[in-house]
Amino acid sequence: MACKKFLTFNNGEKMPVIGIGTWQASDEEIESAIDEALEAGYRHIDTAPVYRNEKAIGRVLKRWLDSGKVKREELFIVTKVPPVSNRPHEVEPTIRKSLADLELEYVDLYLVHTPFTININEDGSFKLDKDDLIEVDVTTDHAAIWVAMEALVEKGLTKSIGISNFSKDQLARLLKNCKIRPANNQIEHHVYLQQRDLVEFCQSENVTVTAYSPLGSKGIAKFNSGAGIVRDLPDLMDIPEVKEVAAAHGKTPAQVLLRWIIDTGVCAIPKSTNPDRLKLNLNVFDFELTAKEVAKLSSLDQNIRICDFAFFHGVERHPEFTFKNQYTN
Ligand SMILES: NC(=O)c1ccc[n+]([C@@H]2O[C@H](COP(=O)([O-])OP(=O)(O)OC[C@H]3O[C@@H](n4cnc5c(N)ncnc54)[C@H](OP(=O)(O)O)[C@@H]3O)[C@@H](O)[C@H]2O)c1
Repeated sequence: MACKKFLTFNNGEKMPVIGIGTWQASDEEIESAIDEALEAGYRHIDTAPVYRNEKAIGRVLKRWLDSGKVKREELFIVTKVPPVSNRPHEVEPTIRKSLADLELEYVDLYLVHTPFTININEDGSFKLDKDDLIEVDVTTDHAAIWVAMEALVEKGLTKSIGISNFSKDQLARLLKNCKIRPANNQIEHHVYLQQRDLVEFCQSENVTVTAYSPLGSKGIAKFNSGAGIVRDLPDLMDIPEVKEVAAAHGKTPAQVLLRWIIDTGVCAIPKSTNPDRLKLNLNVFDFELTAKEVAKLSSLDQNIRICDFAFFHGVERHPEFTFKNQYTN
């Protein structure tokens, strides 16, 4: 059953409150997962060039659109300008490449993926300094990038524009300088990292919030270890209070984690390439959390950031990197 609940943007566009995330999935996995997801009723797909699977997603979208099984206006497709292209003159060529790969004429939401910029070599590999740290580009200018983002809306390449991983201060600065207000801030948000200040600020400014890693990003362990990072991460689906609430409703811990996010007025984009799990993740509208349960889940905040971008060794030296000192484990 399609997700019938939406968040309405400050420009009137509507985003389904559950979307499917696509990070860390091979072409083969994502092609069958997107097929399953569309069949299950997902209409919101979150991707990015750094996930390296836009072409595979595009193949599925083309099949669905060509067959008439879905209309373009029923889909909500999100992609992002990556940290390696976070410069004004790269914004338009980058969205055009994503559109070509996704086989679309426009996306519904285009995000600035990170507030920081990193340098790459001509072959696409990261530029490293003498200490083997990623070279950061400290000239990042959000206001200038935003002007390039606004031009995309004027050219019809995206319906809405937004940001991702922006702090309250970074968003406040952008709001002072923009012609088109950001429609959305995509941030890590789950019971263990609630970022309430930031969420409340976004909502008070009519900037919707999307929660990434809503289930705790289990797959990040593999990604981290590939970058030589060993970090013990919590399993959100194993938190006793979450399991208790799930048992009371005959639902899974994942469904409870997602429903809590939606009930706090935030959109969630869980990633799954497993057909059963992706269906379960969408099936969160046939039960209701009591006010007491919402309060119990809201009291679990630990300020633990799971997706801390440590896999970009040295990124914390960028002046716009704001994650340091935010997690406590
Ligand atoms: N803007 C950003 O900087 C940013 C950063 C991170 C993520 N994102 C976006 O947000 C999406 C979601 O975040 P995420 O991928 O980090 O993590 P997530 O959605 O919290 O968790 C995904 C992991 O949980 C597993 N899983 C999914 N549903 C499950 C269920 N019902 N029960 C048990 N396990 C389940 C998945 O495995 P299976 O696939 O095997 O089910 C996968 O390993 C990403 O895919 C990406 O689109 C954006």
